[in-house]
Amino acid sequence: MKGLILSGGAGTRLRPITHTSAKQLVPIANRPILFYGIDDMAAAGITEVGIVISPATGHEIRDAVGDGSTFGVSVTYITQDEPLGLAHCVQIAHDFLGDDDFVMYLGDNMLEQGLAGFVAQFEDTRTAANTPQLGEAPTVSPAAQILLAEVDDPTSFGVAELNEADQVIRLVEKPSNPPSNLALVGVYLFDKTIHEAVAAIEPSPRGELEITDAIQRLIDDGHTVVHDVLSGWWIDTGKKDPLLECNRLVLDSLEQRIDGAVDADSIVEGRVVVEGGATVINSTIRGPAVIGAGSVIDHSHIGPYSSVGIDCRITRSEIDNSVVLRRSVITDIPRLTDSLIGRDTEVERDQRRPRATRLMIGDHCHIGIE
Ligand code: G1P
Repeated sequence: MKGLILSGGAGTRLRPITHTSAKQLVPIANRPILFYGIDDMAAAGITEVGIVISPATGHEIRDAVGDGSTFGVSVTYITQDEPLGLAHCVQIAHDFLGDDDFVMYLGDNMLEQGLAGFVAQFEDTRTAANTPQLGEAPTVSPAAQILLAEVDDPTSFGVAELNEADQVIRLVEKPSNPPSNLALVGVYLFDKTIHEAVAAIEPSPRGELEITDAIQRLIDDGHTVVHDVLSGWWIDTGKKDPLLECNRLVLDSLEQRIDGAVDADSIVEGRVVVEGGATVINSTIRGPAVIGAGSVIDHSHIGPYSSVGIDCRITRSEIDNSVVLRRSVITDIPRLTDSLIGRDTEVERDQRRPRATRLMIGDHCHIGIE
């Protein structure tokens, strides 16, 4: 079994962060989203992982992940020159995948349950089908296994329709009239039959080769597609609010660890990680929260569900439910909430007259002024 992680894509819904950085590297609890997916692959016993990258952000992903040895896997990079769809990724990864079974994982998805059980289930079903027991009816070896989750708004996902026997009979990508509320989670298991299906489909109205259409093709060609319904949470982190939600869920599982310097005038409560080299001066940190190495929190309040990246400086400010990326400076801001602050950013109170808001911001930003 090999692994294929898709980390191309322009990340348009996370602009402006993604103007300068790959969406899969945005940190959740101070670790890139992508790292959790690679960990999950390793935990499922997968050692050969292909990562599909784009020309624009691929170098950054290579720099962050390297050869994969720190995760206990061996990584092969595959460049997708244009964002032509998830099934196109399978096509360009064919040389890497060969005829092996593989698990495909969207690099901006995160799920609580991990991959090990899902992978084992596919392997067990296929082994059972290929070794029929005397006296038992033969079972059909599935060509694919998909993971489904109930969602409130299925129109922004691939959606599955099941029959009374709980079998997948139809899949549609982003339907305006969804046949169910069961969305396709960004984790798929395939055997080599998927390559024929991918070769047989046409680009969708959005101009992409959809993996949803390729799986539909498997069904149409008489192959078995089995499914599992997700237990635990799943988040497609491609937008700000889901990303903050994911940050909250991961921070909730932290254990307190104070490796940095916290002075006697400060209060640290609950699940808080203060990384080595961070300094907390006359401040309150109320967990769950993480303060990155080299950051200085001075006369401030860091409230629940905040992740402060490395080398940030927060002075006389209050922050909660926010993700602050590396080297950002926040000064004299009484209350910052529900925010995603990019790298090397400054947010400060301006004392100049006339009193006014003065901005120097990038493209595609969103600013909510109190
Ligand atoms: C993709 C798939 C969709 C799936 C979703 C999960 O959507 O096309 O079927 O439900 O990932 O995150 P996209 O992220 O391309 O909009």
